Amino acid sequence: MKIQSIAKLAYSFNPIIKLLPKSMQVKLYSYARLKFMDKFVTNTSVSFVPDSKWQRTLWGLKFQSPLMNSAGMFKNGDGYDLAVSQGAGGYIGGTSTYNPRVGNTKHDIKLPFITLPNSHISINTLGLPNLGDEILSKKIITNAKTAPIGWSLMRTPDYEEHIGMENLIKSLWMYHDNPQIDFIEINESCPNISVNSENITNRLVYIAEHFLSKRNRHLPVVVKLSTDIGSEVLKQILNILFQKRYDGVNLGNTSTNYSLMRQYISPGELGLYDYYTKNFSGGVGGISLRDNSLILCDEAIKYREFIKPDYEFHVLRSGGIFGLDDIKASIEIGVSMNQWYTGYFTNYLQKGDEVYKSVFSS
Ligand SMILES: Cc1cc2nc3c(=O)[nH]c(=O)nc-3n(C[C@H](O)[C@H](O)[C@H](O)COP(=O)(O)O)c2cc1C
Repeated sequence: MKIQSIAKLAYSFNPIIKLLPKSMQVKLYSYARLKFMDKFVTNTSVSFVPDSKWQRTLWGLKFQSPLMNSAGMFKNGDGYDLAVSQGAGGYIGGTSTYNPRVGNTKHDIKLPFITLPNSHISINTLGLPNLGDEILSKKIITNAKTAPIGWSLMRTPDYEEHIGMENLIKSLWMYHDNPQIDFIEINESCPNISVNSENITNRLVYIAEHFLSKRNRHLPVVVKLSTDIGSEVLKQILNILFQKRYDGVNLGNTSTNYSLMRQYISPGELGLYDYYTKNFSGGVGGISLRDNSLILCDEAIKYREFIKPDYEFHVLRSGGIFGLDDIKASIEIGVSMNQWYTGYFTNYLQKGDEVYKSVFSS
């Protein structure tokens, strides 16, 4: 049975799943996601190449289009051939950490996750499960490279911050030493592990001193921030990014602003939304991020135009991307690259492996 058919079949059970106790619903969604992803990442696809008018060149790297997966879809570096043959503009693996992590178990549920299909929202409390950088930094090897490969990393939360930072630097060098990796994304926005967000400036300076300024090959580094940060903090962080010559910013990640996100939930799914966010916390992704990601990207682009850095600095958008209209809105304000997660799987249910083709053929 095709993997898309399995997903569709599972989806058709939604009206029945909704009748179950909420704890059981969370258990089912979490289990189904795990099983689905195991098969999905090793799936193969027919080949689609978006028309050349969609090509984008960022930092000298040629992307097939301005749309690719966002971090967390291929946590352990699988799925490159799948993504690129479906027509993804590029690929990003991770987020990974220096040490392997099993991720969260809460209320006896391993890697909690739900989808709210009518609201086009997903919520996850995975907590960065991954095999660790020692293994993952050597894993990506492909002979048929047709689109750039990025890697997302984060400081491990399993050590004190200063040790976590030393380890992050070691990890960065590991990916630096794998010539297949074309760019790096530093995840400063995972809502599922507790981090001290006040220290972000210090961390960015530290990374710049110990890695950015010492790179000895072309390896652009972008920083992924949450849209929850708001305009003022965004400007403060952008000042550091420009000063330290980071290569871009990605806005944003899932949100923990549950009261703000709640307005986007359809009435029939509010019960599960409230139950999940109260008992599992987690990051909210999907349509509820669409406006905020666009607004913050616009602010970042305008601020870049104001500061006029004397080097190539790109603004990437992640959050609430569901189709061509979103890509066009991004292009209009000057976003260089879009990444999708919830929107990808929403489309995948309908279009299967033609998920990129359905966006770029119209
Ligand atoms: C199940 C799941 C796992 C995710 N894991 C990561 C991750 O490891 N690193 C990361 O930077 N973002 C992660 N994200 C956030 C997505 O990359 C994306 O930024 C966010 O979901 C907003 O995009 P969307 O509205 O298209 O879902 C994850 C999201 C989901 C739903």
